[in-house]
Amino acid sequence: MPPFHPRAAPRRPEGQPTRGKTHPNRLRHVDTFLARYDPGLIRRVDGPWADAWAVDVGYGAEATTALEMAARLRRINPQLGLLGVEIDPERVAAAQPFANERTHFRLGGFNLPVQQPVRLIRAMNVLRQYDEPGVAPAWARMASHLLPSGLLLEGTSDPLGRRWVVNVLRKSADNAALEHEALVFRLTLREPFDPATLQPVLPKNLIHHMAPDEPIAHFFAAWKQAALLTAAHQVWGPRRWFVAAAEQLAVQVVGASWRIDRRRAWLEDGFLIVYGLVALGA
Ligand SMILES: C[S@@+](CC[C@H](N)C(=O)[O-])C[C@H]1O[C@@H](n2cnc3c(N)ncnc32)[C@H](O)[C@@H]1O
Repeated sequence: MPPFHPRAAPRRPEGQPTRGKTHPNRLRHVDTFLARYDPGLIRRVDGPWADAWAVDVGYGAEATTALEMAARLRRINPQLGLLGVEIDPERVAAAQPFANERTHFRLGGFNLPVQQPVRLIRAMNVLRQYDEPGVAPAWARMASHLLPSGLLLEGTSDPLGRRWVVNVLRKSADNAALEHEALVFRLTLREPFDPATLQPVLPKNLIHHMAPDEPIAHFFAAWKQAALLTAAHQVWGPRRWFVAAAEQLAVQVVGASWRIDRRRAWLEDGFLIVYGLVALGA
């Protein structure tokens, strides 16, 4: 069953219209990240999870990345429902030919057009076009629709999805709070490795915080230093250099309030997962 009643009175979507640019496969690695990071969340079917859909907020001028998300996550849970939400009515109309009983597209905003809680929300390349004060309320509004332990992935990518930075936020298991669980950096390892290439794709909550005393600026300074110290590894290619720099970074920041996920499987695929770097509301 879709998470909404087809005749439910539409509510005024919260948010503002923005550019709709997207690209096939742009969010491929966001989806693969999600599928590896928390497959249990996608697979769960106990109690309220049986009917809990995934939501793609702001899928853009074409429904492609929402349909790709559905296909990828259904490799884990073939019954998973996917709701695409757009604030632009023309984009909702354009997506209707792709709807089926487990895939719907509806007009809506951060106040999702659903009557029952959902398991996860992806909102990529949406909030970068808003003002920074709008970010935390938008997170809270979207997260109000999550089941306890549900996830919100919100972030920014470059036009082709070669590099991106994503906030991973989780509704607490007791449903009391939204927690910033991780900040994830991902870049293609087919190009020379340079942490600075991720600065332009920082999400809205971080992009204006590169003054030297800010935590995200400290993080980038440390990562660049780690890259310099491990530069000899570049003779074996960007992948080996990226992994060595992450390991160096993890050692360098022992004692800091944030920490690096050192698991090789993530690092070798170009994912740097950082815990504790972003405080909610900061
Ligand atoms: C740049 S596109 C992103 C498309 C796709 N998610 C991607 O990453 O390629 C941003 C889309 O977000 C939509 N949007 C902006 N604010 C929204 C809101 N509050 N609720 C739903 N959609 C919204 C815009 O209409 C636009 O189509």
